[in-house]
Parts: sequence; structure tokens; C-alpha cells
Amino acid sequence: MRRFDEAYLERTRSGMWADSTSALDALDLPGRERVLDVGCGTGEFSRVLAAGTPGEVVGCDADPELLAVAREHVPVVAGDATGLPVPDGAFDLVACQALLVNLPEPALAVREFARASSDLVAVVEPDNAAVTVDSTVDSEPGLARAARAAYIAGASVDPALGANAADVLADEGLVDVTTTRYDHTRTVAPPYDDADLQAVAKKANGAGLASDEEHLRATLSPDEYDDLRQRWREMGREAAAQTADGDYRRTETVPFYVTVGRVPDDR
Ligand SMILES: C[S@@+](CC[C@H](N)C(=O)[O-])C[C@H]1O[C@@H](n2cnc3c(N)ncnc32)[C@H](O)[C@@H]1O
Repeated sequence: MRRFDEAYLERTRSGMWADSTSALDALDLPGRERVLDVGCGTGEFSRVLAAGTPGEVVGCDADPELLAVAREHVPVVAGDATGLPVPDGAFDLVACQALLVNLPEPALAVREFARASSDLVAVVEPDNAAVTVDSTVDSEPGLARAARAAYIAGASVDPALGANAADVLADEGLVDVTTTRYDHTRTVAPPYDDADLQAVAKKANGAGLASDEEHLRATLSPDEYDDLRQRWREMGREAAAQTADGDYRRTETVPFYVTVGRVPDDR
């Protein structure tokens, strides 16, 4: 299981759902009584759910360190998405955000969601193959695209699952399946905060790319990896120089898909 840390989740979820929650309308949050957020991590999405429903939101994750943070916001239960520690139909909405793209067999989790829900199942998943980057450093969008393509080619999971999640829900017997797209845009611009400065520093010293080295080397030859690393660090040094002058700007857009299905009445 890929591990995530609190700082990563806080940074990558920053501003998500703050602009609009209309893409979550099909979850019928005002009408929910008990909601389970599976793969809740630090509870970033649990908090969004809790803000929209009068019902109780419970977080569930397999990582106890992340769950300890989530516990500060919602009640939690430790558990695996493919074997939830809850009775059949115990919740009227079982949801997740950015969980299925990390699972080798996402259908097994959706099957569990359908077992644990008496009504709705909702999965909010990105299409990581369609992420776009704009930057004042000309080489950054192309390098980000190349690194992402190499990462996805070597993945044992489906990082682009978001765009096709409706098929997974339908295959698991859920009905009235709908999908709504939500674009999560994150911008780096002056005045830079600490997280922005750290991200630029990691580009310049190659640490960001190095953290994915093993994965990238699975699909790139040694020469290809060394070439990518060298061009990446040059790009990072240019970003650092622009940042020092207050000129660096970067916008990343991650398309998320909100896919919702209903447990059939005759189940
Ligand atoms: C990308 S994070 C998303 C966290 C949170 N949903 C959010 O959007 O900020 C994926 C989460 O899924 C959890 N996870 C991965 N595999 C899991 C599994 N089999 N069962 C339960 N949780 C799992 C990880 O520990 C992590 O917290």
C-alpha cells in the first residue's frame, strides 16, 4: 500500500471544494444520516462531507498515523477498504476520495461499499493521466507530462480510473449511476508560502523526482532517467530564480470525477 503523509495531503487538497461543492449534489448530503468516508487519510474529505450533512460522518483508513489526524475532526474506525469492519447496510452513504486510484483491485472495494451502504455509494477519483500544468518556466509543463507518463506506465494500479469509475460501479450492480466532473486547480504565485518555497526547492535539488526514482526506473532506461533528472533540475533552478524575483507562477489542474450509484431496492 502506498503511504501518504499529512503534509502531502494538506498541500494537494488545499482549496479543494472551497470554490464550489455543486459537483457533490448527487451525494444528497443534506438528506444523509450516516456517512462512511473510506480511505479518509487525515480526513480532508470527511470534513467537506461533515460540513454538508446533518448526519454523522465516520472516517475509515488502513493507516493508523493518518487516522490519528482524522480523529481530531470526525469519529474514525481502522479498516481495509476491501473488508470494511461494519455491518451490512450500516450507512446510507459510503464514499471515498482518491482511494480507488491506489488500489490494485478497485472493484473489490466498490463491492464492499455496496454491502456497507443501504442507499448511496460515491467515489471521487482523479484522472491523473489528464492533469495539466501551466508554468512561467517554459520547460515545466512538458517535463511534468513526461514524468507523469513514465510513472503511470509503471503503475500496478489505474491512476486514470476517475474517468471510468461509472463502469466499475455498474459492474458491481449499482444503479442510477451518474458522473460529474470537478476540476481541482492549485496555483503557486506570489506571495509564496512555505509549502510553495519547499516545492520549488525540491524541484531544484531533484528531491521531488528522486522520491519516485524506483518507480520511474521501472519504465525508463538508466540514460532516460538521468536525462529526465538533469532537465528536471535545470527546470527547478529556473523556477527558483524566478521565485527569487517574484516572477514564478504555476497552475496545476487535476480533473476529479464524482461518480454516484444507488444500491438496488431488491438487494
Ligand atoms: C490519496 S490518499 C486520500 C486521502 C483522503 N481521502 C483525501 O482525499 O485527502 C489515499 C488514502 O487511502 C488509504 N488507503 C490506501 N489503501 C487502503 C485500503 N486498502 N484500505 C483503507 N485505506 C486505504 C491511504 O492510507 C490514504 O489515506
